[in-house]
Amino acid sequence: MFETLLSPIELGSLKLKNRIIFAPTSMGLPEDEYFKKIEDIAAGGCAMIIIGDVPVLPTSFGHSLYSKKGFAHYQKLTEIVHRHGCLICAQLHQSDSNLKGMIKYIPGVLSKKIKPQELRPLLNAQVAPYISNLTVKKIKKITTAFGDSAVLVQKAGFDMVQVHGDRMCGSFSSAVFNQRTDAYGGSAENRFRFAVEAVSAIRAKLPDYPIDYKLAVRQEEPHYGNAGVLNEELGIFVPLLEKAGVTSFHVALANHSNLQDTIPGAKHPYFSEEGCFLKFCDQVRQYTSLPICGVGGLVHPEFVEQQLKEGRIQCAAMSRQLVADSQWVNKVAAGEADKIHLCIRCNKRCLGGMMEHKGVHCIYDRK
Ligand SMILES: Cc1cc2nc3c(=O)[nH]c(=O)nc-3n(C[C@H](O)[C@H](O)[C@H](O)COP(=O)(O)O)c2cc1C
Repeated sequence: MFETLLSPIELGSLKLKNRIIFAPTSMGLPEDEYFKKIEDIAAGGCAMIIIGDVPVLPTSFGHSLYSKKGFAHYQKLTEIVHRHGCLICAQLHQSDSNLKGMIKYIPGVLSKKIKPQELRPLLNAQVAPYISNLTVKKIKKITTAFGDSAVLVQKAGFDMVQVHGDRMCGSFSSAVFNQRTDAYGGSAENRFRFAVEAVSAIRAKLPDYPIDYKLAVRQEEPHYGNAGVLNEELGIFVPLLEKAGVTSFHVALANHSNLQDTIPGAKHPYFSEEGCFLKFCDQVRQYTSLPICGVGGLVHPEFVEQQLKEGRIQCAAMSRQLVADSQWVNKVAAGEADKIHLCIRCNKRCLGGMMEHKGVHCIYDRK
């Protein structure tokens, strides 16, 4: 009944044992708890886990690939995941928040004059000037770092790298944020130059390494997402990425509107349906024959199987569903799909936990 879902697939040189991928999910958990959660998900039978938001540049926030301690953290993750016959991919990201601009908000946040939900719009307002004024020297430093960090990712034992097409790649791509007048702004080709150079930098250093691109699509009518690429621009962007060396695509709604849009709850006014972002996969499909991974509210095995079987997508990524029930794939394979704890997309303790800085949990968790 679930032949396609459970069948293997090749992404470049990589063979996935089935079609289910744990979507990039930053968890904000203490390290031990995080390792345990990732291990549970790997043991639950999915083919690959994508580790969200791995910084491309050296950083003192979070885990840096460039420090001994940070590198050891990523190495440990790859060991844990491989133990369970699961593959692991690192999502390389470069933030588009202006760190210097953020400093002025720290007193307001500490004194609670600025609420966490008020901070996001303040930071978003700085994205356009930050992107538009970044020097070409800094741009080159960042795009080169995509290549350097990918080399470290491979050394740490990751099987694949994903370029985060939101954040800085997405902001450069978007005419909403990118108001540059040089070779990185203006025409669609110019706006896409940053992302294409990031992919090319990885390909130049690692000729055979699989590269996934998280392609963030924004839409008008109704307006959702400010970063990323419009449907009308995909015909330019997708072939450029393919030529630069991308192996596969992971397609989602672009960011920088509201996290409740890219991680939509069941009562979302527009993206409440299961498979809510798959229409963006259909749009991308017009311009490539490379494998496409869909994401967005996927929960029911029957629905997922149908999308895979029809060839609409080649892989299915889930974030909240595998947080709710890490054993999703094992249960499907054992003929126990009726025992899955279905994610109801309430966003209470996953997105809610992240927003409240309590770490990502689920209403099904005991504590
Ligand atoms: C708590 C949480 C953290 C997330 N962190 C990331 C991240 O680091 N990078 C990313 O690209 N997407 C991130 N996402 C988005 C997911 O990868 C996914 O696109 C989105 O949740 C929709 O899929 P779902 O309906 O299966 O949850 C996160 C989602 C959640 C719920």
